[in-house]
Amino acid sequence: MALQASSLLPTAVTIHKGGKPSFSFKDVGFFGDSVSDYIRAEYKSSLVLRNKALQVRPIRAQTATASPDIEQASPEEKKTLRKGTVIITGASSGLGLATAKALADTGKWHVIMACRNFLKAEKAAKSVAIDKENYTVMHLDLASLDSVRQFADNFRQSGRPLDVLVCNAAVYLPTAKEPSYTAEGFELSVGTNHLGHFLLARLLLDDLKKSDYSFKRLIIVGSITGNTNTLAGNVPPKANLGDLRGLAGGLNRINNSVMIDGGEFDGAKAYKDSKVCNMLAMQEFHRRYHEETGVTFASLYPGCIATTGLFREHIPLFRLLFPPFQKYITKGYVSEEEAGKRLAQVVSDPSLEKSGVYWSWNKNSSSFENQLSKEASDAEKARRLWEISEKLVGLA
Ligand SMILES: NC(=O)c1ccc[n+]([C@@H]2O[C@H](COP(=O)([O-])OP(=O)(O)OC[C@H]3O[C@@H](n4cnc5c(N)ncnc54)[C@H](OP(=O)(O)O)[C@@H]3O)[C@@H](O)[C@H]2O)c1
Repeated sequence: MALQASSLLPTAVTIHKGGKPSFSFKDVGFFGDSVSDYIRAEYKSSLVLRNKALQVRPIRAQTATASPDIEQASPEEKKTLRKGTVIITGASSGLGLATAKALADTGKWHVIMACRNFLKAEKAAKSVAIDKENYTVMHLDLASLDSVRQFADNFRQSGRPLDVLVCNAAVYLPTAKEPSYTAEGFELSVGTNHLGHFLLARLLLDDLKKSDYSFKRLIIVGSITGNTNTLAGNVPPKANLGDLRGLAGGLNRINNSVMIDGGEFDGAKAYKDSKVCNMLAMQEFHRRYHEETGVTFASLYPGCIATTGLFREHIPLFRLLFPPFQKYITKGYVSEEEAGKRLAQVVSDPSLEKSGVYWSWNKNSSSFENQLSKEASDAEKARRLWEISEKLVGLA
């Protein structure tokens, strides 16, 4: 929904005497498609979502986990008495920061804020008053595989157990005319959002396996925009990994193409493709490791958090209009605080322990297992993505 709304911006805004803006729509939208069609479809899709949510029994909406009674706790329950350790990548703003805050405030979690800008992360933690006892900032730049390896080593040296890893950080470059690259020369969005996280998750899987916490989880944040079975996922440019020829060629211009499907660079598509990779990778982790390790693998769409830094590279008019438009017109808006509670729920709610699930929330903020698109649930594509990614990050 978040990026879908880039096509749902009003084509004209009038400020009346009372100071209230009114939005008017013409039939030529942001991407040259009919805006009113989108709004009709958006309305329809929210009805479908609501009906679907009624059919699928919500798993549970609340974030709190009841504390076990110390006297009567079973050995299993006793394990939960120590604080859990959760690593959250990109915890310096938006969803990651809100999740760090929600978990730290329970007093039951120590949050490792894995961030590329140490000072920004420290300031962010202070700005939302996270108790010093409950967080540690550690340096991680996902756009450098060396940094990812260094982070894994540093974390191990800290001596902390690892109970949950949240792969949350992302870059979105919708207006870029030319591609940017990671330290190893991969296109930046896929290189950061997918390849950096893929290496991180692979390196830390052994640490997760060793956790004696009552549950251990690996969560990779997904998005509706990568799912072409939704209206949002059908806004051009659509996600499409094709036959992965660009990725297999190294995702750079020297050998081949900067796009996974081998096409011309498109920053918005590269982000959506990276989100498909996130969701495919989660499922492949589940297939390969869930039974053997007991780790729960999950992905989610937290809702449209229109105010986050994700949209920082968008044009100023978009950034001005996107939040009120989502709040008052599409009503798809979710606050950073609410989205943080949702992700915190996937981290810590014992009832959300099913592995291989892509979680979403209905209008009443109840979680439900959502359906992924055909491509985002293609097991053969996930297997190939895994094998190519292993080679690119130096694991095979
Ligand atoms: N906003 C939405 O509507 C929405 C909807 C669906 C899904 N999501 C997903 O939610 C997640 C969080 O996004 P957000 O909306 O909270 O955006 P955000 O506020 O921009 O947060 C992104 C975070 O990623 C970090 N980051 C970027 N590049 C990095 C790198 N190379 N190494 C380490 N960290 C890096 C950023 O660090 P800096 O602070 O240093 O820039 C920031 O902390 C993303 O996975 C996104 O796809 C968002």
